Amino acid sequence: MSRAREAERRARDVLDPVHFDFLAGGAGAERTLADNEAAFARRRLLPRVLRGAGAPDLSTTLLGAELAAPVVVAPTAFHRLAHPDGEVATAVGVAAAGGLMTLSMMATVAVEHVADVGVPLWFGLYLQPDRGFTAAVVARAQDAGCRALVVTADSPVRGRHTRDLAHGFRALPEGMVCENMRDADWRVRDLVVDADLTWDDVAWLRATTSLPVLVKGVLHPADARLAVGHGVDGVIVSNHGGRQLDGAVSTLDALPGVVDAVAGRVPVLLDGGVRSGTDALVALALGADAVMVGRPVLWGLALGGAAGVRAVLGDLADELAHALTLVGARRPGDLTPDLVVTP
Ligand SMILES: Cc1cc2nc3c(=O)[nH]c(=O)nc-3n(C[C@H](O)[C@H](O)[C@H](O)COP(=O)(O)O)c2cc1C
Repeated sequence: MSRAREAERRARDVLDPVHFDFLAGGAGAERTLADNEAAFARRRLLPRVLRGAGAPDLSTTLLGAELAAPVVVAPTAFHRLAHPDGEVATAVGVAAAGGLMTLSMMATVAVEHVADVGVPLWFGLYLQPDRGFTAAVVARAQDAGCRALVVTADSPVRGRHTRDLAHGFRALPEGMVCENMRDADWRVRDLVVDADLTWDDVAWLRATTSLPVLVKGVLHPADARLAVGHGVDGVIVSNHGGRQLDGAVSTLDALPGVVDAVAGRVPVLLDGGVRSGTDALVALALGADAVMVGRPVLWGLALGGAAGVRAVLGDLADELAHALTLVGARRPGDLTPDLVVTP
């Protein structure tokens, strides 16, 4: 069992069961949630030997950020459900691992406090129908030091999370709010998910900010082409960790089509089901420039705060480095699709 999987098992024991289910669960019958992981389990590696790969080198530059490994923390809401220090503890752990964190707009700690930690930060943005409010949130994230915007495109409606519906879990506990959803008067606004959003809204954002913009939640190659056509700086292959459209294709199965469509014009990232360094290696070999991890970081946070986050990311990097050498490669960029087979 990979360390990330073991962390999930142990996190179940320490978290409130309703909160564990919120963090772990998916939409509908959780088919997509399960298939994200199963898709990795379906692949096997066809390693090369005697290539003199030497010591592995995971260092990666992504949109100007220098990373210890091609592993980025995905935006996830409500870290204070996992640990009292919430997103600050996550940031300390990510910084210690030499990583990059995407802070969710639905964070339970204000972006300014998280940025104080000094970790490279991207900001996970839900475009709001009130463009003035969206622009204010973007300006706030930029002023705090966020280096890119990650626009969530796969949530025109809220996900139907089966476990949350069963528990009646709808609101954050007393004393926790979405600190980045405050308006100019510092009142907390409700998140609006908007089924009227189009690529024009991405074009508007592109014209509003000088920050790099990545679009997250792309599965269809045609959308990948549209994203590049609208001037985005990165495409993230994601199905929201199986929390939106149940029955959507696994991200690993969608990856090659998106990689083809993007054709190297911007970085392609993948999230969903990455639970080991070998999983990361498979995604990198199939054309991802980096992977993102969601839940494993939350399990590390629940188990050990910043140290737990650092351990989860460190384990993933160690496993990736090991697997890299075993397939005969030195750097992630040396990986090629022929190293992955589906028997
Ligand atoms: C508890 C939880 C909260 C999430 N919140 C957000 C969010 O605020 N914005 C977003 O774009 N994605 C959100 N996601 C999706 C993640 O960014 C990511 O796509 C997914 O977790 C990756 O799959 P993995 O958990 O299998 O690594 C959330 C996922 C989880 C599990």
